[in-house]
Amino acid sequence: MTNKSDNIILIGPMGSGKTSTGRILAKEMRFDFLDTDEEVVKRTGVSIAYIFDVEGETGFRQREHQALMKFLDNDNIVIATGGGIITHDKSRAIIRACNRVVYLKTSIEQQIERTTVSDKRPLLIDTDPAAKLQELMLTREPLYEEISDIMIDTDERSTSEIAHEIIDRLR
Ligand code: S3P
Repeated sequence: MTNKSDNIILIGPMGSGKTSTGRILAKEMRFDFLDTDEEVVKRTGVSIAYIFDVEGETGFRQREHQALMKFLDNDNIVIATGGGIITHDKSRAIIRACNRVVYLKTSIEQQIERTTVSDKRPLLIDTDPAAKLQELMLTREPLYEEISDIMIDTDERSTSEIAHEIIDRLR
């Protein structure tokens, strides 16, 4: 499976700044910006927490996959993804086939500072967020590393700085 378009896909854990960095990046590059979480909420009309409640994580991953597939029909887009999209085999294969996949690497400390526990992030509700983020990182980090073309350290850096580094490194 290949994807020769200029599309840029941002991956990384909750609180890595995929959405805010993606918006700046898209504006600077004059690309459209799309976000898989926002698309799932828009399509279903309910929150991510509600989808997790009713359909479980499996149902959410399927919907996230459909959003990703729809986006890839377009060219010249920046796509921000949810932190767990890479756990879904088919989504991971699709992302891997793109050649501008950017991993926003972020420490647990920074994730905690930036992450609000909300109905967008049901995995952090009713649990110790730090312990949960650590647990997720253990299984997910190798996947982020494996499928990314560029890795950017985001700790203690502004989203604008990160967006500009991405532009420089994609040149
Ligand atoms: C998730 C991350 C969230 C959202 C959902 C699941 C995850 O997106 O997709 O709550 O499994 O890490 P962000 O990474 O934008 O917070």
